[in-house]
Amino acid sequence: MDKLIIKGGMPLIGKIKVSNAKNATLPILAACLLTDKPCQINQVPMLQDIKTMIGLLKALGVQVNFKNSTVDICAGHNMTLEAPYDIVRKMRASYYVLGPLLARFHKAKVYLPGGCSIGPRPIDLHIKGMESLGAQMNIEHGFIDAQTDKLQGANILLEGNFGPSVGATANVMMAATLAQGTTTIIGAALEPEIVDLGNFLKAMGAQIQGLGSSQISITGVKQLNGTEWTPIPDRIEAGTFACVAVASQGIIEIENCEPKHLEAVVLTLKEMSCSITHAENSIIVKTNGRPKPVSITTAPYPGFPTDLQAQFMAALTIADGTSHITEKIFKSRFLHALELNRMGADIAIDDNKAIINGKEKLSGAKVMASDLRASAALVIAGLCAEGETEISRIYHLDRGYESLEQKLTGLGAKIERVASRN
Ligand code: UD1
Repeated sequence: MDKLIIKGGMPLIGKIKVSNAKNATLPILAACLLTDKPCQINQVPMLQDIKTMIGLLKALGVQVNFKNSTVDICAGHNMTLEAPYDIVRKMRASYYVLGPLLARFHKAKVYLPGGCSIGPRPIDLHIKGMESLGAQMNIEHGFIDAQTDKLQGANILLEGNFGPSVGATANVMMAATLAQGTTTIIGAALEPEIVDLGNFLKAMGAQIQGLGSSQISITGVKQLNGTEWTPIPDRIEAGTFACVAVASQGIIEIENCEPKHLEAVVLTLKEMSCSITHAENSIIVKTNGRPKPVSITTAPYPGFPTDLQAQFMAALTIADGTSHITEKIFKSRFLHALELNRMGADIAIDDNKAIINGKEKLSGAKVMASDLRASAALVIAGLCAEGETEISRIYHLDRGYESLEQKLTGLGAKIERVASRN
């Protein structure tokens, strides 16, 4: 297993380019199952999660060619309608094949994705959505066996106890594109990745209204066409690089980002005393000494994203005062706090709240990554800590950050990947 060795403590300065969004690309790849015509997806990031989705599509019988950041994909008629456990267990987003398979083939068998280190991850809203469209959903022996004679449009309330669900909105929206009649999702997710998926489906010929609002209407069509698409830039990667600027007390120009997807993040950075300059496709984050402490509460878009909670926590460990973070989406998503404390941070966790007493400096240590965004938080901490930080289990990082060491090295970071036997 590889490790990252970081020698931190210096300001990072320069330009860094964001890749396109993993969380937009994954459902878009699954949506290609909705047509037997070829689709071409451009500027796809080379990430483990993308490779896993491609592996899953291939296992279903889809022809996929991933070369030079372009995915050529064609889901013909000779398909297997079962998503194998060995692939699904690697990535929760595998459940994105459920809606498209049910819509086009009226049958799907998908192993249950299970929990993960950021806490319980129920799928009741996905099940409710498909049942509302007329599918019979049997859950037995650890898999979902779904079938239907035909999907029928319906009004579906998709909000759960923790607000709208990105995944369930995507799954129901994909399924409804080929259903009979009109489906209205009430309590739909507003995330830019949902809007991007919806626009991709529209380019395939789907009839969708209300994207970016909490009520999305989809009128089913007989069939969809192939199309070409470039997914949106990754707002979470952009926010991660902003935290690198804050923690290293540097100046970073973040290229290939969509500033309007980052409004809550930019407002938080300003409260932390950063100066932010916008251009059309980039932002410049300029820090002014140690960040000021802030209070952050995670929320569905357009609120502060849970996927940046860990990275901001890392940056706030060196704030000039006490910060508070309340996690409202995944209530126990705080494993990174313990590792940050091993680097000299002072973080106390109480249920879904974190209190971060800022310290002047962190000190390098041996730490272990526990999930994708927690890994990014440890990298950020390593970049600002004095001395050497060794991060193990960095395969989590490879799921969601493309060429991270190379990109950070371009800013002057001392970061190196080494192979390790233990
Ligand atoms: C997606 C993102 C993930 C991000 C999350 C929240 C992808 C591949 N993943 O995950 O990175 O952290 O959105 O922005 O895009 N819930 C239920 N029942 C359900 C489904 C979800 O109660 O059936 C709850 C979840 O436990 C959570 C909340 O709803 O508390 C939001 O989850 P959801 O938006 O569904 O997250 P994902 O789509 O899995």
